[in-house]
Amino acid sequence: MALNRYEGLKLSETDVAAGAYKQHLGGGSEKWEQRGRFQVALMRHFGLRPEHRLTDYGCGPVRAGRYFMQYLDAGGYRGCDYNADFIRVARDLVAADPVLSARRPDLRHVEEFLAIEADHDFLLLFSVLNHCRREQRQRMLDFAKAARPGSVSVVTHGYWLFRGKAWDTGDLQVEAFGEGDLPQELDILRHGWEPEDVPKVFPILKFTTPGGQVPGRGNMTQM
Ligand SMILES: C[S@@+](CC[C@H](N)C(=O)[O-])C[C@H]1O[C@@H](n2cnc3c(N)ncnc32)[C@H](O)[C@@H]1O
Repeated sequence: MALNRYEGLKLSETDVAAGAYKQHLGGGSEKWEQRGRFQVALMRHFGLRPEHRLTDYGCGPVRAGRYFMQYLDAGGYRGCDYNADFIRVARDLVAADPVLSARRPDLRHVEEFLAIEADHDFLLLFSVLNHCRREQRQRMLDFAKAARPGSVSVVTHGYWLFRGKAWDTGDLQVEAFGEGDLPQELDILRHGWEPEDVPKVFPILKFTTPGGQVPGRGNMTQM
């Protein structure tokens, strides 16, 4: 898959109205709900709880974001993407749904990579860094290093960490999960992926910022 295929992608009003934007993501409209819901199950496995704050970076048209918003307490979800049309679709979806609107998600169009506050408890980049350049991957590692003690960053499609020049992971705790390292209920073949997707989605990388437990809203430390 080419890098940066989403950068100049524009959606027409017809694409948006007919839901054709779903075809721009792997699995298309057919696997949209399944692949979206899976991401919530994955993050819950890694410790996400309703009171946590999640940043879903490269959220697209909130395929997973809709379910994260339902799971998390109000104010807990931030979705960012550099594709302005995806963020427009996300905002429209939220505006049309009173349950999602009540969760007050922070949906942002961000042009400069990860130019946001590192105030999350959990960060997710689901099928994002595989579309990015080396310096953006390193920027993500630096962002995780600077995040709150105990915060967790999850990156799927993480083959790149083990290829080419070494990465500066600093004192991040790094864990790489292969297909067999997740419980059976998180088998991606049950959630809308095909066998040929397995070597793309895995390893799933988990980076933990040292120095504490995952902070919740009740025990936030000062940045
Ligand atoms: C394959 S889609 C995955 C979307 C979403 N994470 C999901 O799984 O439903 C990749 C997403 O990453 C976004 N993306 C790719 N490169 C990016 C960058 N440099 N900055 C911000 N978003 C980026 C794309 O616009 C797109 O929404």
